[in-house]
Amino acid sequence: MRITTLFLQAILLTCLTACGGSDDSGAPAAPEALTIGFSQVGSESSWRTSFSDSVRTEAAARGIDLKFSDAQQKQENQIKAIRSFIAQGVDGMVVAPVVETGWKPVLEEAKRAGIPVVIVDRNMALDDDSLYLTRIASDFVEEGRKAARWLMDATGGVCDIVELQGTVGATAAIDRMTGFNEVIADYPQATIIRSQTGDFTRSKGKEVMESFLKAENGGNEICAVWAHNDEMAIGAVLAIKEAGLDPGDDILIVSVDAVPDIFKAMADGDTNATVELSPHMGGPAFDAIINYLNGGPAGPKLVSINGDLYTQETAAEEYARRTGAN
Ligand code: AHR
Repeated sequence: MRITTLFLQAILLTCLTACGGSDDSGAPAAPEALTIGFSQVGSESSWRTSFSDSVRTEAAARGIDLKFSDAQQKQENQIKAIRSFIAQGVDGMVVAPVVETGWKPVLEEAKRAGIPVVIVDRNMALDDDSLYLTRIASDFVEEGRKAARWLMDATGGVCDIVELQGTVGATAAIDRMTGFNEVIADYPQATIIRSQTGDFTRSKGKEVMESFLKAENGGNEICAVWAHNDEMAIGAVLAIKEAGLDPGDDILIVSVDAVPDIFKAMADGDTNATVELSPHMGGPAFDAIINYLNGGPAGPKLVSINGDLYTQETAAEEYARRTGAN
């Protein structure tokens, strides 16, 4: 947990005595029964599904009436959902944006309606930070750096890499790429030989990996796959197997998310490393809205959540721990 998270919690705790009190769990108490709109990116990955489940569970535990909207990876659907939340007069909104740009007008509408907005996960490019209360997110640049450091250690810095990018224009893709490239820049014999978006989905990850394998004469010269999420990494595993190669061995695979399926794949020797992205952002997002509605002091504009890197070494154990499997 980063300092900013602790800082927000300290503010929230101060507010509990001065403002609205707390419930049994220690979370700030809602001023009354709350209705909160949640505009989610979609269900493109199992990480995204866990994130949606976690927000729903957190809302239910706090008695919040959650209006959930799945945008199916389309910004226009998110804008429609936000306008509909405004029309319904929700008490607050949580928005997980698909891409960074194009949000200012609709957030200005929310501000005019007096509805507080919390950004979760990916970022919005905004030149006016009064349009949102806070953003709860991980450091995507650092995730890219962690993945690259692991790969450079594993290969001695000599590696022809193919990259499966996330959704074009999404912070998670832009920043992970930045962090990864920053680290490999120090290794002249590490090169990204092909890079294309797989839109964070398993099926597109597989499709793009098939095209990489074809373009690279079957793939024997490919040293590693750098996938911006686990879902595309699993798609790559399928493509590599179909091409008659051994994923995790002939071609190393490093990705981000740490979903149960990737621990299974690592335990089976099919992928090599993943960086964890916590899906538990609903609690701090609700805390920020409730704190605001209780008249508490403004918190930090970014609450950052950190994740560790996992490898095959602990994969079976982690898989069992996370799924309850024995
Ligand atoms: O924005 C976070 C990314 O979105 C996750 O890494 C990926 O699985 C999801 O689709």
